[in-house]
Amino acid sequence: MKEWNKLIVALDLDEKAEIFRVVKALAPKKVKFKIGSIAFTKFGPQLLKKIISRKIDIFLDLKLYDIPNTMKQTAAVIAGMGCWAFTVHIRAGQEALESVRDEVVRVCAAKKMRKPLILGVTELTSGEAAKAKVVELADQARIAGIDGVIASAQEASAIKAKFDNHLLVITPGIRNPKDDKGDQQRITTAQTAFYEGADYIVVGRPIISKKNYLKAAQEVLSA
Ligand code: C5P
Repeated sequence: MKEWNKLIVALDLDEKAEIFRVVKALAPKKVKFKIGSIAFTKFGPQLLKKIISRKIDIFLDLKLYDIPNTMKQTAAVIAGMGCWAFTVHIRAGQEALESVRDEVVRVCAAKKMRKPLILGVTELTSGEAAKAKVVELADQARIAGIDGVIASAQEASAIKAKFDNHLLVITPGIRNPKDDKGDQQRITTAQTAFYEGADYIVVGRPIISKKNYLKAAQEVLSA
């Protein structure tokens, strides 16, 4: 299977042992892992540090949405932790996005660290959304000079076509045809998401709710 390196597994779990079971099962495949508000609220930066120290890429999904100064200072802390990527809400506005971008560049140059990707949240995949609105938000992300956006597969090809590959597209809401869609609305299979232009897919429950994480991930990637 060629797309393992495009798979981001959401560690939406509140049990540390379970988190490490998922990491142990899938890290050899060189997937990336997403830590969001559930695991971060419970286990904090220590969890990130432990995983990053094993040379595993971490996507910190805290979806920052605040005034520019607060976002900028938070982004500086995140950049210093050595994450592969993190999220901000595009609706926080141009000034906030630009100050996050400038601060991340500054901190990483000063500390000689790899710059994390700054990813802008468009419309959550748990609701319906107008494609034009998602593309408009992606345009704001591009103007602010951030690296990519979170969008469903239904908007991925429009974003890729319009911005000529200047924005990465990261797509959650991935489900196998037989999976429970849960609270997600704008869903597709992994292969459809890649076909529509997604650079990475984010998958949580279709993998972490299963007993055999490796087999579940294989099933997701081949559907
Ligand atoms: O379990 P499931 O595959 O639905 O997990 C999707 C993950 O992607 C969750 O961690 C969710 O918070 C995140 N996400 C999302 N939609 C967005 C941004 C992030 O589902 N627009």
